[in-house]
Amino acid sequence: MSTNPEILVYPTVEEAQAATASQIAALLAQRSRALVVLSGGSAPPGVFHQLCQAPLRNLVPWHALSILWADERLVPFHDRENNYFQTRQTLLDHVPIPSEQVFPVATYYPVEEAARVYQNQVEALLERHGGQIDLALLGMGPDGHTASLFPGFPQLEASPETLVAPVTDAPKPPPTRVTLTAHALNRARRVIFLVAGADKAPMVRQVLQGAYDPQRLPAQLVRPPAGRVTWMLDAAAARELA
Ligand code: 6PG
Repeated sequence: MSTNPEILVYPTVEEAQAATASQIAALLAQRSRALVVLSGGSAPPGVFHQLCQAPLRNLVPWHALSILWADERLVPFHDRENNYFQTRQTLLDHVPIPSEQVFPVATYYPVEEAARVYQNQVEALLERHGGQIDLALLGMGPDGHTASLFPGFPQLEASPETLVAPVTDAPKPPPTRVTLTAHALNRARRVIFLVAGADKAPMVRQVLQGAYDPQRLPAQLVRPPAGRVTWMLDAAAARELA
């Protein structure tokens, strides 16, 4: 499969979110089961809002989905900073995904333990899904991080069997996190990066059109050998692309 990502640009963030929701619904429609990785950040709620409503709502086989997170902030489940909490409020509370198919990071453990427990969950889920993630919805920070894979951080060089890693000093607050590694994200058959805003434009250009330098540009690590990557951008994020 090609390693060249597809790049789609929309005039506004709302349009990029709506198009992302349509792509997700089309991808998941008709599936008898699917392993889906979601992210925190500012862009996913607008996507989830569209997915929760007709017509997209009726296309998605909600009962067939198993949900993981690309990363999690180590704060309680009821904290507004918690990615699971955000997803619950904006998606999970509104659609019939069985709760036993939702796998939040156990943020009540110390970070090393939370990462170990999540590693076991991710391994077990991958085993049940033929070793592959069906869809990963990712964001990217203005520093080029994706999930909680930050520039220059040791998680970028995790061993191949490490699918989940603890993070203790993230530059984006809160500092303590658990993240999927690139080895896990590269199990995806489909990756959608949804990135919006002028502050991301220089990094979008570097990641997509600059030299390969994943220590500085962690989002470049996401290159699934058996998967397709699509970047959904608003015009502001795309404005420095050649
Ligand atoms: C997190 C996210 C993170 C996010 C990017 C983009 O928990 O912090 O999962 O990786 O996707 O930082 O976030 P924004 O869209 O808010 O810039």
